[in-house]
Amino acid sequence: MHLKPILFDFFYSKDTLFTELLNSGQFEKGEADIRRFPDGESYVRVLSQCNQRKVVILANLHHPDDKLLPLLFLCQALKEQHVEHITLISPYLPYMRQDKRFHEGECVTSAQFASILSPSIDKIITIDPHLHRYSSLSEIYSVDNVVLKADKTIAEWIKKNISNPLIIGPDSESEQWAAATAELINCPYLVLSKERRGDREVKISAPQARGLSDHTPVLVDDIISTGRTMIETAKVLNTEGFGAPVCIGVHAVFSERDYHALRNSAIEKVITCNTIPHHSNGIDIANLLLSSVEAT
Ligand code: R5P
Repeated sequence: MHLKPILFDFFYSKDTLFTELLNSGQFEKGEADIRRFPDGESYVRVLSQCNQRKVVILANLHHPDDKLLPLLFLCQALKEQHVEHITLISPYLPYMRQDKRFHEGECVTSAQFASILSPSIDKIITIDPHLHRYSSLSEIYSVDNVVLKADKTIAEWIKKNISNPLIIGPDSESEQWAAATAELINCPYLVLSKERRGDREVKISAPQARGLSDHTPVLVDDIISTGRTMIETAKVLNTEGFGAPVCIGVHAVFSERDYHALRNSAIEKVITCNTIPHHSNGIDIANLLLSSVEAT
């Protein structure tokens, strides 16, 4: 008899994403007790019987330093129950931006994080990981991997909600998202250039955008962290005669303070995908994930 994979929630419980996956009927709900002892160490206990079963862990790995160890403990506890296969769905994959030793002595944390996680799982599914200097996740993850793209879901949202859009990528790295999204909508796009001068300091330059300022500017990026990229881009667009932009990020990495600073800047609104639970979430990626786990 074919048994459904068992789906475990790892730090998504207050969010609808876990519920949406569960309501699809593709999974059986897994139960685990994951908490901290008073001294701060982690306690992990798998409560479901998972022997010889396929297991899927839906993990919110935003703020990964607090979560990595309990995740490794969960995977180990599952392996000790002799599970058949562990798929980790991490809609936001952390640490991908440190993909190079920019300064002597730095740890290339993307590769190190991957090498710590890989032995504990059989497969990883993620959405728009920050693949800039790596051409594929296989360069650092030694397990099967599926990289999903939110561009179609984002394009659908833009088509429904914004008239006469102009898609804008704030830097060369964002060209991949900006170009693909614009093509799906059949609208123009612009890619600006960015010089990062520090964690909270960026300089944005815009190419000539003559004849486009009657469009609604829609900034699209994979990650919004401090929000400085979006804020500075909005300022540059303003000097070029554009209206306030709509800012779309796949991953809402920002702190509340940075989110409020962005909301209070010269932008129209901020919309993110629900890869990381946040009140800016307005684009639902549950169906995108479900299409990829059907084969699991
Ligand atoms: C970096 O290369 C990413 O694609 C984003 O542009 C960046 O993480 C945004 O960071 P922030 O919001 O701190 O400017």
